[in-house]
Amino acid sequence: MIILRDISSVTAAISQARREGKTVGFVPTMGFLHQGHLSLVRQARMENDLVVLSIFVNPIQFGVGEDYEEYPRDLDSDSSKAEEAGCDLIFYPTTAEMYPQGYATFVDVERLTENLCGASRPGHFRGVTTVVTKLFNIVKPHRAYFGQKDAQQVLTIQRMVQDLNMAVAVKIMPTVREADGLALSSRNTYLSTAERAAAPILYRSLLAVVAKITNGERDANSLLTYLHDAISAEPLAQIDYISIVDTADIKPVSTIDGPTLIALAVRFGKTRLIDNIIVEV
Ligand code: PAJ
Repeated sequence: MIILRDISSVTAAISQARREGKTVGFVPTMGFLHQGHLSLVRQARMENDLVVLSIFVNPIQFGVGEDYEEYPRDLDSDSSKAEEAGCDLIFYPTTAEMYPQGYATFVDVERLTENLCGASRPGHFRGVTTVVTKLFNIVKPHRAYFGQKDAQQVLTIQRMVQDLNMAVAVKIMPTVREADGLALSSRNTYLSTAERAAAPILYRSLLAVVAKITNGERDANSLLTYLHDAISAEPLAQIDYISIVDTADIKPVSTIDGPTLIALAVRFGKTRLIDNIIVEV
């Protein structure tokens, strides 16, 4: 496995592989890798000849006062985990390499980014879609792998790829969870012992809502009330948002009658956690 820091060496290595007829699978990340990220690398390994992982804590997707500075970073541990999962090449650029002086171009997906995390983190998705576009242009993957954990992110990226005719197949992999249901996240490392013990309430509540839908409940408002009550009962949990939206436009629905995303963001102390479930009825 090799680690490259500059765009020109990545482009050269990948052009060479493509000339040899190899397929390229790509996993974009911000590092501090866990089994969620590694599930994407393993899937890419199964489906491609060359597996590329990027590690870049992208400053433009963090808002003022968010955790850009504290975001956990550990290249040594990341590179051994990535290699073990089957990665061939890590692209690990500097901020100056990605956003040199004079940088002025951004990609903005409208409508799908208005609600949920788009509402609580203004500018976040513009930062994500811009960096993912740049990474796609640098790596030129045949397939790119994303986690369902960031549901609005994948729906937005799929929309962007379709709208801008990008020649990449977007693959979505299920959320990897701890034994108690907490979705793996690099940010889980911020949780205190008490917060960590409280955090599984999120997935437990989502599962309870799925059970209600399975039992015939279709009214989004009563499900939202249930979720608010269940999560507010946990004193350490501070709700940022809980939403029930359609998966096409990410707009709130009043009745569950098609592919529906149930998504939430909840703070435990200074840590903001997100989770979601998609139901098809
Ligand atoms: P990051 O949070 O590092 O996540 C990288 C990828 O891993 C994303 O596709 C995310 O959905 C996936 N992932 C994270 N936790 C997961 C879990 N528990 N199970 C399955 N997949 C999981 O998402 C980003 O980075 C950035 O926004 C990025 C796309 C790299 C752009 O900067």
